[in-house]
Amino acid sequence: MFGNLVEFYLEGNKVNFIYERNRGIVEVISPEIINIFVPFKREEKLSKAIENLPENKVLFAVENQGDKVLIRTEKLLVEVKGEFKVDFYNSQGELLCADYLGERDPKTNKTQDKMKIEVLKELEGSEYIYGLGDKTGHLNKKGYHYKMWNTDDPSPHVESFEAMYKSIPFLLVLKNGSGYGIFFDNPFKSYFDFGKENSKYYYFGAEDGNLDYYFIYGPSIAQVIKGYTYLTGTTPLPQLWTLGYHQSRWSYAPEGRVMEIGENFRKRDIPCDVIYLDIDYMDGFRVFTWDKEKFKEPQKMISKLKEQGFKVVTIVDPGVKKDKGYFVYDEGLEKGYFVTDKDGIPYVNKVWPGDSVYPDFSQEETRKWWADKHKLLLDCGVAGIWNDMNEPASFDGPLPDDVQFKNDGYPTDHREIHNLYGHLMSKGTYEGIKKFTNKRPFVITRACFSGTQKYSTVWTGDNQSFWEHLRMSIPMLLNLGLSGFSFCGTDVGGFGFDCTGELLSRWVQVGCFTPLFRNHSAMDTRDQEPWAFDKKTEGINRKYIKLRYQLIPYLYDLMYHGEKTGLPVMRPLVLHYQQDRETYEINDQFLWGENILVAPILQQGQRARAVYLPKGKWIDYWTGEEFQGESYVIKEAPLEICPIYIKEGSIIPKFPVQNYVGERKIDNLILDIYPGNGQNLHYQDDGETFNYRQGEYNLYRFTMDEGKALEIMVDMIHQGYQGKYGSFTFNINNVEAKEVIINGKPVNFQLKEGKVNFTASGERLEIKIIR
Ligand code: GLC
Repeated sequence: MFGNLVEFYLEGNKVNFIYERNRGIVEVISPEIINIFVPFKREEKLSKAIENLPENKVLFAVENQGDKVLIRTEKLLVEVKGEFKVDFYNSQGELLCADYLGERDPKTNKTQDKMKIEVLKELEGSEYIYGLGDKTGHLNKKGYHYKMWNTDDPSPHVESFEAMYKSIPFLLVLKNGSGYGIFFDNPFKSYFDFGKENSKYYYFGAEDGNLDYYFIYGPSIAQVIKGYTYLTGTTPLPQLWTLGYHQSRWSYAPEGRVMEIGENFRKRDIPCDVIYLDIDYMDGFRVFTWDKEKFKEPQKMISKLKEQGFKVVTIVDPGVKKDKGYFVYDEGLEKGYFVTDKDGIPYVNKVWPGDSVYPDFSQEETRKWWADKHKLLLDCGVAGIWNDMNEPASFDGPLPDDVQFKNDGYPTDHREIHNLYGHLMSKGTYEGIKKFTNKRPFVITRACFSGTQKYSTVWTGDNQSFWEHLRMSIPMLLNLGLSGFSFCGTDVGGFGFDCTGELLSRWVQVGCFTPLFRNHSAMDTRDQEPWAFDKKTEGINRKYIKLRYQLIPYLYDLMYHGEKTGLPVMRPLVLHYQQDRETYEINDQFLWGENILVAPILQQGQRARAVYLPKGKWIDYWTGEEFQGESYVIKEAPLEICPIYIKEGSIIPKFPVQNYVGERKIDNLILDIYPGNGQNLHYQDDGETFNYRQGEYNLYRFTMDEGKALEIMVDMIHQGYQGKYGSFTFNINNVEAKEVIINGKPVNFQLKEGKVNFTASGERLEIKIIR
């Protein structure tokens, strides 16, 4: 396809390679990130995933070796050969990733004919492959084949599904303990085969578009994620209330039913922050309208809910009812905002409202118009927007390939925009909410592409109330997290089919630790609210929802750090224990940040399980028992127990339980301390606005040193937010204290539930626990 190398020349950070029949570009993005680009379709990249990437000057050297050209950065050696074959080595000269030069296997090869572009990489055999967003199956994707084509398939999601709602063409390879990533920035239908076709290679390829991929070196997984989110963006800090509990159903309507749901939460002492309105709040499923029979005065209803601490999130689908006289349809038609067929006639398919047209979100002007429409909902007090059906879904067969999109001056067809449609829609939604509220927008979307994490949280779509789906949700969420989507969740309890009390109890135990904690269920399924079963289930749900509310400051810290590092909230064990092979394929446990390990029960009737604890000492959250890691423990887990372990040296910030975030001003921060050596930074701000970006936040440094005495230091290292804590309550686990000394003075302490407990105030506290 390329032939022999004729010449090459430098242009800034780019090395241009001219071959006999084609040309390719290697661009040094950073010492550990290299872009490989061939403009097969067009010169411009037009990436929707990567926006505003700074052009940093990077130091690198180029050496011509005749049959190959070497590009050396501080971290990598890139070898560019004939046929534009590219291999990557680390700076010690160890091969990380090589193009596969052998023959393809014609017997198993299913996609070669479909792909205009493909890249084959050698598999050595010892690799583990992660990432690809929300795909079904297991954490390790090796041996499987996947497709990127955003798909709304209502049948139960199983391992054989090659495509899901989202397209996140990012993979992370762990080879002999060393990690690298590949981001294939091509929105066309693409295929990823990780050694299924042939164990000698893996490949990725697309039906059209440019060859455009980024090699991202680790060697730590954390570093790979940092590189990937440097390109595509990190999940920004959300509003604090979004970390509370969310209750949804298709649909809570009419108004009386919504109010009843709210009352039940308060009456039953179960915290909740958000209630969702699914499609039935609209007038005949017309977006940006209200059904005035079911919801006579939406603004009044929302403000009554607000008094009780509830925020309302409404669904907004892309399909606009084809209906003359309906303002959204009329306006869009007049301005040419809908996608068309080849002859320029608005393309019609069927979704909830029947015959509908689709806004052309690839056009900035349309996105702005759409963004502005949200004022209608926001003015009623709506606090967040739920974007659904944006694969885009269509009930009357798929959208034809030749549906036309304007694409901001680069007209194209559905094949190129399909996988970007949800991304562009949620971007518009984000911008609308930001414009009218000036708060951190809360958007939740079903379909998306790489980079959507900057604009929206995601859920995994229409799962079922199956134990199998509870089990699968863990690797799905872990891979979403590794792929940049830190703020993610599943429909807790399952969407389709009927949940049971036991399944809901176990799902809430997982949901307590998913960044987005939303219970949602489909029309015609049995009720699934926390109280919908029996008293025992209700009690378990209450317990874990309350635990979630206590842990909100810890979760918020993870989100704050995640905005800087790209690290997700939910992490597979391998992320922090990359040298421990035992962690490589753990599908049923996860870390919540670095300090909390969760090993939920995922089978009906199961009352005990084996838990793998990695290196270090771990403390059973419920019993205080200590365990040495790199071993398995058997944990008994009756229905009310979700096995949770805390790493030694952890300082876990906690809030008192509230009915909803912001119910009370939190003047006292609780610190749950597990002796050992450790440090963490605790973050505090107004929980709503973007002022933190101007420095309006506080940062507290907690340090703990395990010596003869246990020494704990609290230091305020940044003060920019006026709501700083008045005091700290220390709960020190597993310690026998003779004396507690704060800033040189002995103080009184209590023994409460086996913990040493005391309260102190000040911007700088030096605490000594004498044992
Ligand atoms: C889709 C969504 C689901 C929603 C339903 C009705 O199936 O995935 O969450 O409840 O549409 O809007």
